[in-house]
Amino acid sequence: MSDQQDLNAQRDQLSAAKRALLEKRLRGERVMPDSRPLHVAQNLSSATGPADLRAEVTLDAAIYPADRSVRAGLPGQILLTGATGFLGAFLLRELLEQTTAMIFCLVRCRDLEQGRARIEQVLQSYGLQHLDWRDRVMPLPGDLAQPLLGLSEQQFGELAQRVEAIYHCGAMVNNVAPYATLKPSNVDGTHEVLRLACQTTAKPLHLISTLSVFPRSQTLLAEDDTPELEVGVTNGYTESKWVAEQLALAARSRGLPVTVYRPGSIAGDSQTGALSPKEFMFSMIKGCIQLGAIPDLPVLVDMTPIDYVSKVIVYLSLQPASRDKVFHPVNPELCTMGELGDMLRSYGYTLATVPYAEWRARLLAAVAQSDTNALFPFVSLFLPAEIAEQLSRPRSLTIDCRNTTAALSGTSIVYPPLDAELLKKYIDYLVRTDFLTPPDDARVA
Ligand SMILES: NC(=O)c1ccc[n+]([C@@H]2O[C@H](COP(=O)([O-])OP(=O)(O)OC[C@H]3O[C@@H](n4cnc5c(N)ncnc54)[C@H](OP(=O)(O)O)[C@@H]3O)[C@@H](O)[C@H]2O)c1
Repeated sequence: MSDQQDLNAQRDQLSAAKRALLEKRLRGERVMPDSRPLHVAQNLSSATGPADLRAEVTLDAAIYPADRSVRAGLPGQILLTGATGFLGAFLLRELLEQTTAMIFCLVRCRDLEQGRARIEQVLQSYGLQHLDWRDRVMPLPGDLAQPLLGLSEQQFGELAQRVEAIYHCGAMVNNVAPYATLKPSNVDGTHEVLRLACQTTAKPLHLISTLSVFPRSQTLLAEDDTPELEVGVTNGYTESKWVAEQLALAARSRGLPVTVYRPGSIAGDSQTGALSPKEFMFSMIKGCIQLGAIPDLPVLVDMTPIDYVSKVIVYLSLQPASRDKVFHPVNPELCTMGELGDMLRSYGYTLATVPYAEWRARLLAAVAQSDTNALFPFVSLFLPAEIAEQLSRPRSLTIDCRNTTAALSGTSIVYPPLDAELLKKYIDYLVRTDFLTPPDDARVA
């Protein structure tokens, strides 16, 4: 087959795949990347969790909403965890904009002043410094990993009296740490948040979970499905988020109003390009640029803009009909690795598309020389081609977003298409912040 015929065949395959995606979308389904060659690799490499994770789902019998009546109307006082993180900062913006509430933020800090400084710093780092937040945001020095969230009994009791809704976004997000390391913040922290939610009055809990709680073998991820535990093929982060979600669902079955949001892979702000370079996808982009090569993996890339995710979560959280539902605020527009490579090339980077096995060999050679490749910390995640190939089946994955789509219909919240223009904003941001070296002929904004 000539190169041109080969290219045409690939284009035909791609357009057939896109037609299938379109048909699924027309049926109201969202089709997601099969990023398993990467993510299964991540999972296997650090599966160090306890033998029986189900036993970890133990909710203190005292965590029981004594008074189940929930105040009607918008909450006047809110607790937000994780405000010094990426999603938390954008949730804070949306809470400031979509409500008039006073927002208490649990922050790891010495005192109020340092708490304010940390919030200011994170808002600045994501281009949100223009927000008028000082009169409505109260940092609470605390720690998810401590009993009673690191608050005194009196502070905990007062907080339980005051807040009318809780947004629990804080968690240690780390795909290589073992379960034992993540448990205090992610599992025990959720447990204490549930204790607070049930104390005095039942306070609606908005839990930020993740699509990773689903078993890798599952091909349809339904919003209304309760993810089964998958033994063996998982990682500490996924395990801790699975246990945390199960704890919240256990509290829901005791009568606490719980709404769960499971984002996929979160990218930058669709207006400014501001993003968290900690996201694995950006290390992947940087690592590929450094190698001068991108693997020809048959995966679709999910990059949901942070402004979309946060706006959707806060909007849904304020609708009474969202109570006890699960939502997938996920990107309906996906791109293939090939398209991602094309976009990076059109930005000016020199990038060959090579078979995964060859790409992996290049990566291993690079990290054997030095630790400067952005994928250095993740190298163990890239399994040999034959194993990744085996584990990556089946190749397609459908994410059901019916609850989200139905709840957003008639609103002005629409998903911005993932195209070269949006990707350029992200790459411009990464270049401006020195995460990426600009290509010689890049057109950086
Ligand atoms: N980013 C994604 O693509 C994605 C996808 C799906 C789901 N999620 C979920 O979204 C949430 C936020 O993720 P992110 O990407 O924004 O992560 P992030 O930037 O790392 O932020 C994590 C936040 O949690 C806080 N935190 C961690 N441990 C804590 C503790 N012991 N006590 C108090 N606060 C603690 C961090 O505080 P410090 O600043 O003090 O560290 C930070 O504010 C997580 O629940 C994550 O599972 C994220």
